[in-house]
Amino acid sequence: MIVLGIESSCDETAAAVVRDDRTILADVVLSQLDEHRPYGGVVPEIAARAHLDHLDRLVAEALARSGTRLAAMDAIAATGGPGLIGGVMVGVMTAKAIAAVTGKPFVAVNHLEGHALTARLTDDLAFPYLLLLVSGGHCQLLAVEGVGRYRRLGATIDDAAGEAFDKVAKMLDLGYPGGPAVQAAAERGDPERFALPRPMKGRPGCDFSFSGLKNAVRLLIAAETPLSDAGRADIAASFQAAVAESLADRTRAAMELFAAAYGGPGGLVVAGGGAANSLLRQTLARIAADAGFRLAVPPLKLCTDNAAMIAWAGLERFRLGARDSLDFAPRPRWPLDPEAKRLPGAGVKA
Ligand code: KG4
Ligand code: ZN
Repeated sequence: MIVLGIESSCDETAAAVVRDDRTILADVVLSQLDEHRPYGGVVPEIAARAHLDHLDRLVAEALARSGTRLAAMDAIAATGGPGLIGGVMVGVMTAKAIAAVTGKPFVAVNHLEGHALTARLTDDLAFPYLLLLVSGGHCQLLAVEGVGRYRRLGATIDDAAGEAFDKVAKMLDLGYPGGPAVQAAAERGDPERFALPRPMKGRPGCDFSFSGLKNAVRLLIAAETPLSDAGRADIAASFQAAVAESLADRTRAAMELFAAAYGGPGGLVVAGGGAANSLLRQTLARIAADAGFRLAVPPLKLCTDNAAMIAWAGLERFRLGARDSLDFAPRPRWPLDPEAKRLPGAGVKA
């Protein structure tokens, strides 16, 4: 079975071809960083236009690199949401057009399910496992029970962690994209110089919060201005340490709930752009080992947005019988757990 996948929900335009023996035959990603850099963040209209300009060429390139042809595809998958709606529309329309012309089935994929199932493509991980998703738009802890079966353990009550990195980078004039810039500055800084809050640490449940921490950084910058390079690095390091400790605390709580609900520890998967953060990786490796969980962090290229994860999630859904109609409407919001099913004890908000 071979599936073509298309991703266009944020600022990466991507196409990939994946086979059911977990081989990625082609994986092409075009980042729009340069288009958005002057604005210090993703501009939805610019993103949609860029997807439109590049997607056809990227699909052709992915097919050429895969050594296969459209005729060999079993299904055409595209991100159907959640995301910036203009971009999602471009990907969905492209996939539908290909499906209509070739007579192949179309599968709409939830972008979050793409992230959630990546560890099955890369590590052949068995269900159930625990997923920590740390991206620019999402910060969630989910129990992945099966394809299409997710239970929420915790989510952010305000901002996503990646977004906090981006905002802090902006406040510190470190440039865009923020996550890697904060990490680079933090490596030169003293994480103990400034005592910043560890949001939600020790609270019941597994929810996250980052807006208070972001605000604390804003006040700290105001108090320390004018900032030296060393001051900037110390603030970046103190902020990064606070995020890592908060994420680790929430993940530790989620591992306890998971083990109680599923009869013991399992896999812990970290996905999303935040998985690129080395302090976070180290911290999670430690707490996973302490709790008897097996940590799986997909290669960076497959942690950030890409189409291989969409092709794979499409393939997993398709082989279970999923098909979507050409009437499918792109969804700006699309929670993985529509009934917000929670594990007992999860998500007790402060
Ligand atoms: O998953 P992703 O590529 O796109 C979304 O779906 O959001 O994640 C991008 C996010 C950005 O907010 C970025 O700042 C963050 O991941 N990020 C990082 C690092 N690299 C990327 N955050 C912390 N440390 C990093 N090294
Ligand atoms: Zn993503």
